[in-house]
Amino acid sequence: MTPEQNARLARVGPGTPAGEMLRRYGWPVWFSELVADKPVPVRLLGENLVLFRNAEGSVGLLDRRCPHRGASLERGRVEADGLRCCYHGWKFAAGWAKPRSRSRFRGPEWRAERRPAG
Ligand code: FES
Repeated sequence: MTPEQNARLARVGPGTPAGEMLRRYGWPVWFSELVADKPVPVRLLGENLVLFRNAEGSVGLLDRRCPHRGASLERGRVEADGLRCCYHGWKFAAGWAKPRSRSRFRGPEWRAERRPAG
């Protein structure tokens, strides 16, 4: 196997051939009973993610960086219907991100990539 072939198979980040193939399958991410009232940082397939469970019991898995200004959602606050970024208050439901602040920030509706969550 050449070094190029090895790299093609071994790299699993977003946009890589092996990464795109592996993202078509479900992956165990964390122990369900350990996802409680605080966001859990998770690293999977070369991506930094954050796992949370809202008060309704739904589990969300999002990119760890807030799409607004890149703050870590690991510091976010879990609320009844989602995860709120602690910096400017954008709120994220499992699979979706909705800006709630109308005064200063008029970010576009932003759709988080849907990921399988258990
Ligand atoms: S950085 Fe998250 S809402 Fe601004």
